[in-house]
Formats: sequence, structure tokens, C-alpha cells
Amino acid sequence: DIKGFVFDLDGVITDTSILHGTAWHQLADSLGVAWSEELGNGLKGISRMDSLEMILKAGGKENDYTEAEKEKLAAQKNTNYVAEVDKMTPANILPGMKDFLDSLRANGYQLSLASASKNAPRVLGKLQLADYFPKIVDPASLKKGKPDPEIYTKGAELLNLPPEQCIGVEDAAAGVAAINAAGEVSLGIGDATELGAADMVFADTSLVTLANIEKKLG
Ligand code: BG6
Ligand code: MG
Repeated sequence: DIKGFVFDLDGVITDTSILHGTAWHQLADSLGVAWSEELGNGLKGISRMDSLEMILKAGGKENDYTEAEKEKLAAQKNTNYVAEVDKMTPANILPGMKDFLDSLRANGYQLSLASASKNAPRVLGKLQLADYFPKIVDPASLKKGKPDPEIYTKGAELLNLPPEQCIGVEDAAAGVAAINAAGEVSLGIGDATELGAADMVFADTSLVTLANIEKKLG
């Protein structure tokens, strides 16, 4: 029986995945690295420094910067990203997600957050959803980011639930891989081809309801 939900944030609860993408695209342009949709999708769910490494690698520039320079580039991206986050309001919650979270609470499911983002508490505050997520995995505590299962394993541990009693909710292929490797049930939101490894896929957030999930669980 499912007793808990472990949530990704960016691209699941709110469309910050677009803001992350725009900020990385800007940085890639400034470094002379060609941007592509494929590169952008591959960055979803990936930590800040790992994302920078992927961008540098895509441009064949992985050996062009010192660690200190890389820290500066990542900080520059984050400054641009945070400026956009600070404009957010509860209107930026993705369609249906507030109702879904309310229905989970009303039905006694436990919730935790498994976002790779160090800005997650700030984003939840802007959305006025902090109350829903007293349990947040600290991404700074992780040895490895998604697709490694660690973040989803910790998300279930925070709920004191075995992984098979948890549904992990993701928009990124790397995140679905992490959920599966953690032994949780994976719910993907987005393109069914991109998220083909998920146990169930919904095309968009408005379709993610307890009734629809129960149908898919059979
Ligand atoms: C993930 C996003 O949730 O968090 C990534 O999908 C982002 O795009 C990552 O790079 C890290 O976020 P932050 O806010 O710590 O730079
Ligand atoms: Mg995401």
C-alpha cells in the first residue's frame, strides 16, 4: 500500500525548470557553447555544479576553467535564477498541483521533498507551500545526485516508510531513474518517450490526481 509521496519540485510543482533552463542558456551563450533542446532536457534534475560541467563538456570546454572560475560561473547563473524566483507567487504553481497536494494531505499521505535544488525552500516560500513540506532532503548532504537513488532513498527515510510504500514524482528522466533505483513507484510528468522508464506517466500536472493514480496502479 502506498503511504507516502516523495516530490521533485522544479518542473513538477512549479515551472522553475523553464527558469533554470533560461538561466543556463544565457550562461552557455556567454561562454560560446551552442545550446540545444537536448542539452536543456539533459540538465533537468541535475545539480548546479554537475549542470555546469555538462554545459562545458557539450562545448568541449571542460578543461578551460579552474575550480574557482567554475564556482563563479555557477554563482552567476544562480544570481540570475534567484532574481526570477523572487518574482514568483502562488500563481506559479502548476495546474492542479495545489489541489493534488491538498487531496494527499486530506487522505493522510505523508509528503517529503527530493529536489536537487539548494533554492527549494526559497521557491516553496514564494509559492506559499512551505507548510506542506516540513521534510526536505538537503541536497548538500548527498554524495551523488540524480540519477543516483540517494535523494529518493533519503526522501522515504524522512517519512519512515519503506521505499515500496512511496511514489516518487518527477519530470526528469534522471529523476525517474533515481526513483526506480531507490525501489519506489515512479510517476513521471511529461513526455512519455522521454520518461519511458516510469511506472506511470501523465502528460501534464492537471492529470495527476489520486483517482487517476489509483486507476494506473490497478
Ligand atoms: C533541479 C533542477 O531541481 O535543481 C535543475 O531540475 C537544477 O535544473 C538543480 O540545476 C539545482 O538547483 P539549484 O537551485 O541548487 O542551482
Ligand atoms: Mg524536476
